[in-house]
Amino acid sequence: MTRTPAPFPANRPRRLRRTDWMRDMVRENTLCAADLIWPIFIQDGTDTATPVPSMPGVERLTIDRVIIAANEAANLGIPMIALFPNTPEHLKTMECEEAYNPDNLVNRATRAIKAAVPDIGIMLDVALDPYNASGQDGITREGEVLNDETLMVLEREALSHAEAGADVLGPSDMMDGRIGIIRRALEQNDFSHVAIISYAAKFASAFYGPFRDAVGAANVLMGDKATYQIDPANSNEGLRMIARDLDEGADMIMVKPGMPYLDVCQRASDAFDVPIFAYQVSGEYAMIEAASANGWIDRDKIIMESLMAFKRAGCTGILTYHAFEVAKKLAEPL
Ligand code: PBG
Repeated sequence: MTRTPAPFPANRPRRLRRTDWMRDMVRENTLCAADLIWPIFIQDGTDTATPVPSMPGVERLTIDRVIIAANEAANLGIPMIALFPNTPEHLKTMECEEAYNPDNLVNRATRAIKAAVPDIGIMLDVALDPYNASGQDGITREGEVLNDETLMVLEREALSHAEAGADVLGPSDMMDGRIGIIRRALEQNDFSHVAIISYAAKFASAFYGPFRDAVGAANVLMGDKATYQIDPANSNEGLRMIARDLDEGADMIMVKPGMPYLDVCQRASDAFDVPIFAYQVSGEYAMIEAASANGWIDRDKIIMESLMAFKRAGCTGILTYHAFEVAKKLAEPL
């Protein structure tokens, strides 16, 4: 219960901050490897890692390299990785057929990882932008992103990912009705065990810029995503979208971006008794790395502090490009 603290000097809050062990003992939130989801970019080829210029420290990996990375992540206690494809340009079309190709990059990677590293969860995004000649998350005609036409393709994409062995699907496109369609398709096709983490509160953010570089969508994107992603000015709308997606069959929720939308994380975790995750997006990562490279901030401390902010805001966990490094650090003896 909240109550008015006793007046000074009966109450001296500094008594509980005096030593390391005392601070350890009274700490309200902790961060551990199980809180982390690690996103990995995948590219075609063998035995290659290609740096992403706008995300220093992040590399696109070929499938053989992803298997090694997944194994290391599992050993560190990271529960789940999220795979994002860098689709070769010639496979991007206006109809996005590559999204549901059973042998597309993420489906091949998922099968290979499942065979080699069975004990790590695999999450795949359900969205068309990596496969779309327009760079949009939906089927586009004359500049307009069409909702219901997109749903039909998302349904096929979701089933192809489930068939490949994805454990968790992350619809990240913000089309209306997608969660219900995907949930029904999973139920009807013997994939009732596949969980959905809905990017329900996904904002039309400029913080996604470096990611679009990484997946090769930046140069093809026509226009912006304001007709489907949420206006950054709105938090009530974010909460409405979460309620809608839970009603349609989402198991978990993603708030995205993370730190600029920490208020939404807090409101969501207060309002809904389901796991709420934050996506610390590429722009957040790039800002930390750029300022660190200039010697302007203490990189290691800022990474930990930024992740702890999400725990404090009530998040169950965080999807972050720093996941692997942080899990390694958390595994070091004190
Ligand atoms: C799109 C998607 C985006 C990200 C993940 N999935 C970009 C977008 O909406 O344009 C961005 C992630 C990041 O910036 O790290 N389906």
